[in-house]
Amino acid sequence: MIRLEDVFAENKLPETEVDRQYYFIQVAKDIVAEKETELGRKLTFCVNTFGCQMNARDSEKLVGILEQIGYVEAESEDADFVIYNTCTVRENANNKVYGRLGYLHNKKKKNPHMMIGLCGCMMQEKHVVETIRKKYLFVDLVFGTHNIYKFAELLVRALLSESMIVDIWEDTDQIVEDLPVERKFHFKSGVNIMFGCNNFCSYCIVPYVRGRERSRHPRDIIREIQRLVADGVVEIMLLGQNVNSYGKNLDEPITFARLLEEIEKIPGLQRIRFMTSHPKDLSDELIEVLAKSKKICNHFHLPLQSGSSRVLQKMNRRYTKEDYLLLVEKIRAKVPDMAITTDIIVGFPGETEEDFLETLDVVEKVRFDSAFTFIYSKRTGTPAAVMEEQVPDDVVKDRFDRLLARVQEISQEKAAMLTGEVVSVLVEEQNGQDNTLVTGRLGNNAVVHFPGDVSLIGQIISVRLTECKGFYYIGEQV
Ligand code: 5AD
Ligand code: SF4
Repeated sequence: MIRLEDVFAENKLPETEVDRQYYFIQVAKDIVAEKETELGRKLTFCVNTFGCQMNARDSEKLVGILEQIGYVEAESEDADFVIYNTCTVRENANNKVYGRLGYLHNKKKKNPHMMIGLCGCMMQEKHVVETIRKKYLFVDLVFGTHNIYKFAELLVRALLSESMIVDIWEDTDQIVEDLPVERKFHFKSGVNIMFGCNNFCSYCIVPYVRGRERSRHPRDIIREIQRLVADGVVEIMLLGQNVNSYGKNLDEPITFARLLEEIEKIPGLQRIRFMTSHPKDLSDELIEVLAKSKKICNHFHLPLQSGSSRVLQKMNRRYTKEDYLLLVEKIRAKVPDMAITTDIIVGFPGETEEDFLETLDVVEKVRFDSAFTFIYSKRTGTPAAVMEEQVPDDVVKDRFDRLLARVQEISQEKAAMLTGEVVSVLVEEQNGQDNTLVTGRLGNNAVVHFPGDVSLIGQIISVRLTECKGFYYIGEQV
């Protein structure tokens, strides 16, 4: 029988953080092995991810640790350990989690061995954790974004105690390297280059739940990518809330453009993507690197948020409509085939019809390849939440519909322009509906379905785009 006091005995705990977590992985492995013997079967897990690519990457870290411990991935939430890695960027994401917790509770009543874990951005909000403590007593483990590297240790605590384990940190300056991670795809991977955000856009909760900006050391990033490539990865996505300010807080500062140049040199790596860029920090140096690069994909995600300089100022975005248009012009002058995509928020407090028309004007001028459109969501604790003149729902809905219609028309027109072209495609999976087809992605991030078999998965091949179906293509291998 493994006991909490023994496991946490001071003389047993290794000194460095990474060794400490490997120690807890071993302890968890022993506990899980005991349970397996008791039950006469393997224990299963299911990690359910909400939100952005950053969360998707965090979930891969959780899965990596769970698999080392001996848990087996389940197809559904009928598992012994279900984790929700949550998002809180918009209010509806929170409501979804509460809704699904009720449903998990029913499952838990039927499986007494079941554990429920909650982590991610939503857990960094005090009122959420209070609600969970009060109303969702059946949850076993709650942790946040800053201590995710302690997952193995927290899991050991949860496995060895009866009560809910809650561990939320306000912030951290730690980055723990070299913990296990299990990739969802064998041929592509996200790579964190920085954590947190310092921008405090007035509507956004991210800086409060992801903490201050910290960059990983370039040496660690390069080493991780080299290992990924040795392991079969051909495409990487560099992840950060604001990649254009990468490296500013390092002891030896380095720019994002320089980092890209270093990554470009890694043999065997074929495609580089990155996300997300903030227009205010986008440098000419970066545009030069994009123009020269043979590996960086022709896709730039550049969130606009609003086309009105007045609203942008209230959003604390620190650029104007004209600045944004100029940036797009500069990118296109150097890299004419660069696909530009964006995020737009409708209904920010005080947004007038004129402001909204400015947004539509940018949409007309830039002609985005695609745009994610969001209805403004009030996030408690952000400056915008207490701004006056919140826009009535029906007005927002009307603007949102008009924007979406126009954005979609333009993206379809732009997509159609590539019909007939031969493009390079990374084959990602077998088509879900028709198993004679495979599905791949162009450099510009668009999707194409074409006849092929699973042996193509992970390869970059040439495909002719024979037909444009609006948001995706039908093609044939050439
Ligand atoms: N309401 C609506 N959309 C938001 N986003 C961030 N915060 C909010 C909010 N409070 C959008 C922004 C950001 C994207 C990831 O989510 O457009 O770029
Ligand atoms: Fe939020 Fe702005 Fe930071 Fe993006 S840059 S995460 S929108 S505060």
